[in-house]
Amino acid sequence: MSTIDDLAKHLATSNPVEIIGSALAQFGPDCAISFSGAEDVVLLEYARQTGKPFRVFSLDTGRLHPETYRFFAKVEEFFKLKIEYCFPDAQEVQRMVRAKGMFSFYQDGHHECCGIRKVEPLRRQLAGLRAWITGQRRDQSPIRASVPVVQLDGSFVGKDAGPLAKFNPLANIPGEEVWLAIRGLGLPYNELHDRGFVSIGCEPCTRAVLPSQHEREGRWWWEDATKKECGLHQANIAKDASA
Ligand code: ADX
Ligand code: SF4
Repeated sequence: MSTIDDLAKHLATSNPVEIIGSALAQFGPDCAISFSGAEDVVLLEYARQTGKPFRVFSLDTGRLHPETYRFFAKVEEFFKLKIEYCFPDAQEVQRMVRAKGMFSFYQDGHHECCGIRKVEPLRRQLAGLRAWITGQRRDQSPIRASVPVVQLDGSFVGKDAGPLAKFNPLANIPGEEVWLAIRGLGLPYNELHDRGFVSIGCEPCTRAVLPSQHEREGRWWWEDATKKECGLHQANIAKDASA
């Protein structure tokens, strides 16, 4: 088995199908695609093109748009697969919402709510895997500008308390190219994209952007741009902080 560094070198200029193929060949069912319900749907198509079986999970925060839930159902039908939905701990959500209400993130920032609704469920899901595949791209935000195609994800612990590899097959792919693929291949997409939404997260924390705005301006818009990672991709911030 190659090390992550070897893989990173080997795959640095590979296309997404080759990168996902390599992840699936190396990790099989111990690897899964993390699908947000946005343009990262291309990951599923590229995984399908490898001809290998693959797993998909989504973090259902309970606060996603109705359009995103409908899109999940469409994707399951289109790719003939079952998404592994990951839910937050009900007691934790109840404690926070009873104490602070439904929209505490507008007052005290998104980290507590994201921690409970996204990061903890992700932690549980990753504890059963040795590798995960994300739709992060370098052009999504300055914080992601040097996201590698493959990295060791030190922010989470994998199966049997082992290391966790993180594959970012779209790291080098510009957003426009992702959309050319979605349109060209006739893939289903989230209907919010037709209404000015580019980056899509939870309903209360996502809004449409104007053509002149950066896609991240539609996420947690009331917060400082440097805080716009929710903890799923902690590795980006850790790297950024040490740079
Ligand atoms: S976020 O951290 O700011 O919310 P973003 O929306 O840019 O992330 O998506 C980047 C990648 O993170 C997605 O392509 C996907 O791999 C993963 N991701 C984000 N949100 C979810 C989610 N709700 N469920 C599963 N994966 C997600
Ligand atoms: Fe909560 Fe907003 Fe984070 Fe969703 S994006 S988990 S609603 S703070």
